[in-house]
Amino acid sequence: MTPVRVDVVSIFPDYLAPLDLSLIGKARRDGILDVRVHDLRDHAHDRHRTVDDSPFGGGAGMVMKPEPWAEALDAVVASGPAGEATVPHLIVPGPGGVPFSQALARSLAQEPWLAFACGRYEGLDERVYEHAADRMPVTVVSLGDYVLNGGEVAVLAMVEAVGRLLPGVVGNAESLVEESHEDGLLEYPVYTRPASWDDAGTVREVPAVLLSGDHGAIAGWRHQQRLDRTAGRRPDLLPVSATARALADLDVRVAAPADAAELLVLQRACWVREGLAARGRWVVPPLAEELDDVLRALGEWTTYAVRVPAVDGAPGRLVASVRARRHPDDATRWEVGRLAVVPDLQGRGLGRDLLALAESLAPADVTGFALTTGVLEEGNQRFYKRAGYRLVTGEHTPPGAVDFAKRRR
Ligand code: ADE
Repeated sequence: MTPVRVDVVSIFPDYLAPLDLSLIGKARRDGILDVRVHDLRDHAHDRHRTVDDSPFGGGAGMVMKPEPWAEALDAVVASGPAGEATVPHLIVPGPGGVPFSQALARSLAQEPWLAFACGRYEGLDERVYEHAADRMPVTVVSLGDYVLNGGEVAVLAMVEAVGRLLPGVVGNAESLVEESHEDGLLEYPVYTRPASWDDAGTVREVPAVLLSGDHGAIAGWRHQQRLDRTAGRRPDLLPVSATARALADLDVRVAAPADAAELLVLQRACWVREGLAARGRWVVPPLAEELDDVLRALGEWTTYAVRVPAVDGAPGRLVASVRARRHPDDATRWEVGRLAVVPDLQGRGLGRDLLALAESLAPADVTGFALTTGVLEEGNQRFYKRAGYRLVTGEHTPPGAVDFAKRRR
């Protein structure tokens, strides 16, 4: 197979030396990657090999001159395979670019030839982009919302992220899939021996479930860790179903202990009708629970809290919630519960969207969904039937309740 070609133009070619190391260096030696680093100054022809000048219109810093860049990029293009009309995809790292992501890395890993133009100072004369765009696809890419001194560090990161996706670079293809960002969630924590580590007097244990040999329980624990980590560190990544139109203008987040009191009020408000209908014949758990029960449940389920948007920094009113987890008695099923929408916002599709969101959290190995509702709540039962659930009430169903199930499609 022809290697994937990577050209990098920089005024600090030595900065790119790490591309000789580790897996990327090995990929070069194995003929998977063909990395060529070029010195921009080779294309500056005055006595001082000048590559920058002061900006027209004034302002701080220096701007990279267009002529050396045009010549350098033309030289890269001209060095392409003879007789073939191929050009590289030019990536210009810069804080003003599109965000670099695993999705972009995957897309770049499909290309046969990438070129990187490392800017320094205040950036490249804008006409360099025009010159390049007349010859090849150009994308400005940012590593994140912060400013580096130049594009070289960004190129190291991007070449590593792209290079490791090429066949043969990472030995175990599975480890590419089981990774933060590959499926939109952050990775679960990992541990190795010793199981019990005496860290200078503090004993740090590996979570017992990982030593249990129960693969279902381990998968369940790991999935929950991924949801919790993502909720804690990157709530923006949590899946809100693309079809969630009714939720679009609301603030949907994984609930935290600080939400517990309002969740308790919400469930009491939403289950009060069922409580009155029960007339003391059976316990309605959402009404019987206290704050401690709600707090404990936050640790056992992934609970979403839906609020109207904040006004002037004050959190908006809690208007809906739902929770989900792997079924404690049957690891193949995903249990959804406590779907609640405040009475004044019912009938707008919020419940439907929240149910879809709770279902979308199910790990890949789950084959079906389970939920329980009140035996007298005919409206709720019709709602779940419309969502594809069927009644599966059995001997373990508590009094006053009905069980519903749905196969995963
Ligand atoms: N060059 C300077 N800052 C950068 C950033 N945040 N991402 C990519 N390239 C850069």
